[in-house]
Amino acid sequence: MSQLLITGGAGFIGSHTCLVLLQEGHDLIVLDDYSNSSPVALERVVALAGLQASGERSKERLQLIQGDIRDITCLEKVFIDARNAGKPIEAVIHFAGLKAVGESVREPLRYWDVNLTGSRCLLAAMNTHGCRTLVFSSSATLYGYPKDEPIPESAPIQPINPYGHSKAAVEQLLHDLASSAPNQWRIACLRYFNPVGAHPSGKIGEDPLGTPNNLFPFVSQVAVGRRKSLQVFGGDWPTSDGTGVRDYIHVMDLAEGHRAALDCMLAEPAQLLTLNLGSGQGASVLEVVRAFERASGRPVPYDVVARRNGDAAITVADPAMAFQRLGWQTQSGLDEICRDGWAWQSANPTGYSDQE
Ligand code: NAD
Ligand code: UFG
Repeated sequence: MSQLLITGGAGFIGSHTCLVLLQEGHDLIVLDDYSNSSPVALERVVALAGLQASGERSKERLQLIQGDIRDITCLEKVFIDARNAGKPIEAVIHFAGLKAVGESVREPLRYWDVNLTGSRCLLAAMNTHGCRTLVFSSSATLYGYPKDEPIPESAPIQPINPYGHSKAAVEQLLHDLASSAPNQWRIACLRYFNPVGAHPSGKIGEDPLGTPNNLFPFVSQVAVGRRKSLQVFGGDWPTSDGTGVRDYIHVMDLAEGHRAALDCMLAEPAQLLTLNLGSGQGASVLEVVRAFERASGRPVPYDVVARRNGDAAITVADPAMAFQRLGWQTQSGLDEICRDGWAWQSANPTGYSDQE
């Protein structure tokens, strides 16, 4: 089993993936500045992985470092300390980054800085210390307004906001790096569709700061009574019920996708592999609302309002390549997603700020 560096490991997708990797037997170093997360998430990951009982050993299995991926001194120290401790970092999973589309339009400098400069610093440190195996969090946002549904990886890259541009720039950097040393870098670029849901225990889940931008946490907060009603952005899209259609993927399926991509990168020759991670199934906004009502037994009142700027009608993955290359496909559908999302939201109505 390997020693892995997980940047942004305290976040939504990172925390669920850390749990899967610990259960797989890997030892982890998490580097996170907690700018959009809470260390409580990782305390709960430790408990879910059954590590608390093992005391000191648990610190060996999961080491937490509060730091910024743009801080090259901090990054250097992480790699050097791991080597000096006799457990050099074999691979990195790079989640750390900013992800809110609207915020990226208002603060492009910050998005380019964290997402691109942060990734460049990380890659430079990896290169210096001879660690050239990476799994990178990319996004379906790269496809902009897609022409074809479902969307294959070969679809044109045409981002429509600074967040998407920053992810496209990192993908380009990874491509240039892999081309510069073709026999050295093992890189999996994973383009996620819409990650939602929570661990079935309800102990870890998504905890957005302030008003959620995304549908799923908004619907959860309406069901739990934290918000009055949902605004449905547009009822006149060219879809079966007039509301937007997305490919929602259970965060535990996504975590499994990272495990599979990592295993593939560690086992196969050097390469740059770009994969969609999605289910291949679309669900409309109203289908999500109804599924959540069924799972929670609570009403989710809504009003249909104007379309949101920058939205596409339908975004659904063609996930065939991920199955072909990794043998990976999603296991959970919308009902399981809503069941587990509700387990988290109902047990933690205000997220990690709740006291146990
Ligand atoms: P998240 O905000 O929950 O997690 C990101 C983590 O990175 C947080 O813990 C945050 O504190 C940390 N972080 C941010 N800036 C940092 C910095 N400068 N140094 C160190 N740590 C820093 O987000 P998430 O949903 O878990 O997303 C993880 C990754 O996946 C991101 O790169 C995001 O762009 C990408 N992604 C997310 C989605 C989605 O809908 N959630 C979709 C596609 C791609
Ligand atoms: N929606 C509403 N009301 C809301 C929020 C969303 O009706 O309050 C609708 C949207 O119009 C869209 C659907 O719900 O039709 C999904 O919207 P989200 O904001 O949940 O997700 P997006 O598909 O817009 O984008 C998300 C992330 C992006 C990421 C993309 C693909 O925000 O960063 O998924 O992974 F790139």
